[in-house]
Amino acid sequence: MKIVSIINYKGGVGKTTLTANIGAKLASEGKRVLLIDLDPQASLTFSFISVDNWKEKYQEEKTIKSWYESFTDRRELRNLSDFIITPEKVNKKVDGKLDIICSHLGLINIDLELAVMLGGASPRQQRNNYLKVYSLLAQGIAGIHKEYDFVIIDCPPNFNIVTKSGLVASDFYIVPAKPDYLSTLGIDQIDKHVKELVNDYNNYSIQDENVEYSKINPKMLGVVSTMVGIKNDKPIISQQQYISKMKLLDIPVFQVKLRDNKSIYSDAGEFGIPVVLKKANNKTANMVNLELNKVTLEILNKISGRDKKHE
Ligand SMILES: Nc1ncnc2c1ncn2[C@@H]1O[C@H](COP(=O)(O)OP(=O)(O)OP(=O)(O)O)[C@@H](O)[C@H]1O
Ligand SMILES: [Mg+2]
Repeated sequence: MKIVSIINYKGGVGKTTLTANIGAKLASEGKRVLLIDLDPQASLTFSFISVDNWKEKYQEEKTIKSWYESFTDRRELRNLSDFIITPEKVNKKVDGKLDIICSHLGLINIDLELAVMLGGASPRQQRNNYLKVYSLLAQGIAGIHKEYDFVIIDCPPNFNIVTKSGLVASDFYIVPAKPDYLSTLGIDQIDKHVKELVNDYNNYSIQDENVEYSKINPKMLGVVSTMVGIKNDKPIISQQQYISKMKLLDIPVFQVKLRDNKSIYSDAGEFGIPVVLKKANNKTANMVNLELNKVTLEILNKISGRDKKHE
């Protein structure tokens, strides 16, 4: 099993869109995929499940918020598999499996509750609490590792505790970014903050005499340029400078770029089916599909070039 987080502090850069599409593409190739929506805005959830359905069936008991609450309320982490849903519509279109753990607006409060739990009277207690809280999702996923080939985590646009617990659980992470000033500004910061998290976590886990916490090493697979303006088959000049700038950051950048196309990505008619699984009915839609196929392939190639943590 491979666990991949999709992160960027910047909002609206295409994290959720990328998560939904690579998940759907992998599932269409026969893979067993679990998507986890860690964003209280729940956009990923509502890409696959209607709001009415969510309200009626899942809101109360079957979201990642309820799962975290089993820990914050009762200190008994429930089995993550009890919170998994199989959205019907998309699963009719794939050979593999595309499951999801839904989100909930109340996940915002979970972050606050977890923050309180990080405290401790002594350094030893603080260290134990730190490891316990940040490793929650990793523990949950460990319980279902035989059931999926890929777990893809859609992170919220912040670096709060829930996001960090997603990274702690991950083998890899990907940073979608728009090639513009504000979006590129934060990329080396993300890299720096992930390294700090990894250092802190590993230092604590080494000191802990209790060996249940293994060291972590989430690897940055790279930046995926999203919403790229394309003219004459090339990124528009104003964006090229940011794409070049990203390459100078000493951070891997995906070769494929996802073009900007509101009508295909946002207004795409059929609900519950990501663009990559829809039939392309014109040249541009074809290009969009091709890019999404390529980004998935590039991810697979990058992943297979590395020693695996969860096999
Ligand atoms: N390549 C693209 N071209 C045009 N529009 C896009 C593209 N990718 C995504 N979008 C649209 O842009 C909006 C933001 O995308 P998305 O929700 O994936 O971003 P996000 O990074 O997950 O946002 P947030 O930080 O709020 O979670 C959505 O309406 C989506 O449909
Ligand atoms: Mg999102």
